[in-house]
Amino acid sequence: MTSPSHSPAPSAPRPFGQSGQLFQRVVEAAPNAIIMVNRAGDIALVNAQAEKLFGYSREELLGRKIEMLVPPPVRDRHPQLRDRFFANPQTRAMGTGRDLYGVTKDGRDVPVEIGLNPIETPDGTFVLASIIDITERKRAENTMRELNLSLERQVRETMSAMEKLRGAQDELIQKEKLASLGSLVAGVAHEINTPVGVGVTAASTLQEGAKRLRRLYTDDRLKRSDLEHFVSLAEESSRILLKNLQRAAELIQGFKQVAVDQTSGERRTFALKAYIAEVLLSLQPRLKKTPHTVSVDCPTDLVVDSYPGALAQILTNLIANSLEHAWPGGRTGQMWIRARVEDTLVILDFSDDGAGVPPDVQQRMFEPFFTTRRGTGGSGLGLSIVHNLVTQILGGSIRIRSEPGQGLALTIRFPLRPASP
Ligand SMILES: Nc1ncnc2c1ncn2[C@@H]1O[C@H](COP(=O)(O)OP(=O)(O)OP(=O)(O)O)[C@@H](O)[C@H]1O
Ligand SMILES: [Mg+2]
Repeated sequence: MTSPSHSPAPSAPRPFGQSGQLFQRVVEAAPNAIIMVNRAGDIALVNAQAEKLFGYSREELLGRKIEMLVPPPVRDRHPQLRDRFFANPQTRAMGTGRDLYGVTKDGRDVPVEIGLNPIETPDGTFVLASIIDITERKRAENTMRELNLSLERQVRETMSAMEKLRGAQDELIQKEKLASLGSLVAGVAHEINTPVGVGVTAASTLQEGAKRLRRLYTDDRLKRSDLEHFVSLAEESSRILLKNLQRAAELIQGFKQVAVDQTSGERRTFALKAYIAEVLLSLQPRLKKTPHTVSVDCPTDLVVDSYPGALAQILTNLIANSLEHAWPGGRTGQMWIRARVEDTLVILDFSDDGAGVPPDVQQRMFEPFFTTRRGTGGSGLGLSIVHNLVTQILGGSIRIRSEPGQGLALTIRFPLRPASP
């Protein structure tokens, strides 16, 4: 208030008398916009920050009503609010919970935060309003809100994408199952077609022969040679029929095993080594016809609580495979069955020193109907049955290692005591 440019308009109230100068200096030093108003709402004092915030010079403000800085929607009620403040003057924030705005000289609404402090002076009570421009804070809050919203949206979108993915995955698994079942059925149909077709031919040949025999007999033209011919036809036809029906029955049996009937196969506690010996004994008729040998390395006290039927089937198929595929040149071969316990798992290794398999065969060996012996007796079900038995009955896993000429090795891991199905 010392410099002429800062001197108030004549009508401006002049609180503090002579100490006003000091007070003005203190107010100038404040970081916020400060405006002091009397009970009537006349502006008595402003600082440079207030000039800057509202765009008015202090000459334009001093002595005027504070309502000039209040935006229209609140302007009319403001005198009332002011009266209420002066009726009970207390230091407090203004308009808590509401968004407050000041209006600048050029008509912009500026978001503000206002603290109110009553001040007693010889001229009566004044209110010192400390005003903070919160435009930047609002902007930051808005940016934060927008960021949050877009983050929420992204999370929602990701979740729904994941949901969709899960659905697609389920669908895929379902399709995969159906496809493998489909190919299984198609394969079975294909495989069974041959023996059944041969059987049908044999049966109709037999039927034709029987009809011819009856005709000759009825016409009284039956010769001894006709009867002999028919008997050998009947023998041959029934041999073919039986062989092919047996083959069909085998295939159906195999198919049943591929489908793995979870309910069949009892579970019991048994000593593994003794059980392996039993299985080998049952395979003696086949093994005896070959020069190959099987050696077993298993602790005598290794007792498991599992499914012996499945284990027998697994070993039988593995040995049958070695006999079938490992030594095509007729060399004397060796097979090994080794078992040990690791934690709660049985590690069962089966290996032979035969021809092994190239990588492309290794990749497909467990597929149902994959065989390198199509047409010469292989149906390609052996290892797929083994795989299903290991994973679905024993609750274990199976890994294969092989290189051409280096033999074949399979490692089966299964729980000593599988969880109840
Ligand atoms: N010990 C082995 N040595 C070399 N090749 C093997 C051995 N075991 C399996 N294979 C290969 O894996 C293929 C698949 O075996 P898998 O037992 O599933 O069918 P398969 O023996 O051909 O027919 P099936 O067992 O139904 O009579 C075999 O055709 C063979 O090529
Ligand atoms: Mg086989």
